[in-house]
Amino acid sequence: MTWRASVLTLFPAMFPGPLGTSLAGRAMERDVWSLEAQDIRAYATDRHRTVDDTPFGGGAGMVMRPDVVDAALAGFDDGRPMIYLTPRGRPLAQERVRELASGPGVVLLCGRYEGVDERVIAARRLEEISIGDYVLSGGEPAALVLLDACVRLLPGVMGAAESADEESFATGLLEYPHYTRPAEWQGRAVPDVLLSGHHAAVAAWRRSEAERITRERRPDLWSSYQAHQTPGKSGAVAPAPAAP
Ligand SMILES: C[S@@+](CC[C@H](N)C(=O)[O-])C[C@H]1O[C@@H](n2cnc3c(N)ncnc32)[C@H](O)[C@@H]1O
Repeated sequence: MTWRASVLTLFPAMFPGPLGTSLAGRAMERDVWSLEAQDIRAYATDRHRTVDDTPFGGGAGMVMRPDVVDAALAGFDDGRPMIYLTPRGRPLAQERVRELASGPGVVLLCGRYEGVDERVIAARRLEEISIGDYVLSGGEPAALVLLDACVRLLPGVMGAAESADEESFATGLLEYPHYTRPAEWQGRAVPDVLLSGHHAAVAAWRRSEAERITRERRPDLWSSYQAHQTPGKSGAVAPAPAAP
């Protein structure tokens, strides 16, 4: 069954954008997934097609009107998760991406200006998701990020050669480093173990590198990884770093 993405936006011309090319674009051509970008402005009722208004209580910027946004959402309330992309949302993580990719699809609401009136978020029970601790000018790039992350996990989109099994976050760790030919480049050699042909040694090296990188770069992921380890099971759990 086709995984369906519907995006509500004031800028439908931004879609499919980069998702029309490469892996995602080919998967769309094969009907693995579909994308419909709906113009929120089409649901405005006055002759100026107004979608926003000044904030109650004063302050800078404009707010997207609840009646217009609700009318836009109404036709898409079909059981798929309805998500409002916002810096206030829960940070997007691979686990939620996997859940969304294994469902029927998503309905994504892209904000502009100061965002949307709080009442429509409550009335439609929108899930709020952020793609990071920074502020974009609109939800469209965030929607593209979320869709890219989901679509690559749909069955048949990635070949066996691009398996998601070992990549960052799949194991609770960041991924180990990669190397290809030439074996020596600018005086830098590929680690000997990778040329050894010894599969168990390669696997152990990759595991310990993944652990080292996670420990050094992401103490948050490292703590949760350690908390989920059965003592003696992984074999190569390195000691936690000293506090800075
Ligand atoms: C200029 S932003 C509004 C920021 C909002 N006033 C605030 O301070 O939280 C306009 C729109 O961009 C989108 N957006 C901005 N940053 C985002 C992020 N980090 N993740 C997801 N969506 C984001 C949201 O849809 C938001 O409604």
